[in-house]
Amino acid sequence: MDQVDIAILGAGAAGLFCAGSALAQGCRVLILEHSRKPGEKIRISGGGRCNFTNLSTSWDRFLSQNRRFAASALARYRPEDFVELVDRAGIAWHEKTQGQLFCDGKATQIIDMLMHRMRGAGLRLETGIEDVGRDADGFVIATNAGQVRARHVVVATGGKSIPKMGATGIGYAIARKFGLRLVEPRAGLVPLTFAEQDLNLCRPLAGVSVEAEIRHGGARFRDALLFTHRGLSGPVILQISSYWQPGEVLEIDLRPGIDIATALMETRSRTGRTAVASALSQHLPERLAQSIAAESGLANARLADQPNDVLQALGRRINRWRLRPVGTEGYRTAEVTLGGVDTRDLDAKTMQARDVPGLYFIGECVDVTGWLGGYNFQWAWASAHAAGQSL
Ligand code: FDA
Repeated sequence: MDQVDIAILGAGAAGLFCAGSALAQGCRVLILEHSRKPGEKIRISGGGRCNFTNLSTSWDRFLSQNRRFAASALARYRPEDFVELVDRAGIAWHEKTQGQLFCDGKATQIIDMLMHRMRGAGLRLETGIEDVGRDADGFVIATNAGQVRARHVVVATGGKSIPKMGATGIGYAIARKFGLRLVEPRAGLVPLTFAEQDLNLCRPLAGVSVEAEIRHGGARFRDALLFTHRGLSGPVILQISSYWQPGEVLEIDLRPGIDIATALMETRSRTGRTAVASALSQHLPERLAQSIAAESGLANARLADQPNDVLQALGRRINRWRLRPVGTEGYRTAEVTLGGVDTRDLDAKTMQARDVPGLYFIGECVDVTGWLGGYNFQWAWASAHAAGQSL
């Protein structure tokens, strides 16, 4: 049976990063990974360019039952620290928007950098973890290719999102087995699904994009909203999906910053002959303006003929569009898994299980989930660094 100081379960973002940090402490490290390649999610992330961090990282951009938990690790490993690694590796990058940093080239550059940083550690691919046990001498990891003994085990097996990319949720089973509590996992940063009546509105507008604002569950996002054949998508929908619970109604502002009813009344007082649709198209994309006018029975109507209550109803349809998603696309397409190992059972400085010395949980399997925009990788690096430094 193999014997190592540290076994890291999962060669994703957190596992690879942790291996590099642990090596720097002089430990003998072995990563076990069931896929054929390491870092598969990094490879497809950010549309193939990896949004590897966000300069605006702070604990309040993460969801968790205990939002302050992430603050310690995030403060001790900052986006600037990761940028320094990226610069040292000679990887060109750019800021896209809202602090989001992407590679100029391919995401595989980040994988190569992480692999280089952890050279000296063992990496065993196509090795599925089946169970983790413990006896007087330490931990015993059962895999489909035999057993491995380790003094410390770092669980970095991610969440349940995108099973096709290797997600299994085994980290939760390991946590439960050792008596740690779980916050019920659910899909996050995921497209929402809509009822047929809403789809009938969205489908003809497929391809139209607007900047929209959604406030929900204590969060507020303003970003692109995209009409698609499957309903609504785009960053603002993904962001709010993490805050939405089944059954809840969303209220979407399709023209944030402008009170449409007031704007229409002003236009009516100046140029009453203007068609409702063309008055709307001063504030919205043409196709959306026409569609909303038609849906309200005002396809060919002039502003002058509309009383205030009609314009107010139109304003509400645009500034406070209410619709009730029927669900989400689930783990099949979710970028992340919300919930996970309950942070009450982990030490915020080291990521070690409070009651199981030597057992650590890092990355997405922990109940810490970031907004869209590089925050989740920053959590992977920061939590991995916290564990790696303490080993
Ligand atoms: P991760 O899922 O990366 O790694 C877990 C590893 O464990 C995997 O390699 C898996 O195969 C392995 N594993 C699981 N079960 C196992 C078992 N039983 N035995 C052996 N191995 C096992 N975030 C961001 O900040 N910027 C971005 O641009 C993107 N883009 C993006 C795009 C898409 C399509 C997705 C799905 C996700 C993103 N993300 C993102 C989110 C980001 O990818 C995610 O938060 C991190 O990869 C989490 O890192 P972990 O190492 O915790 O899990």
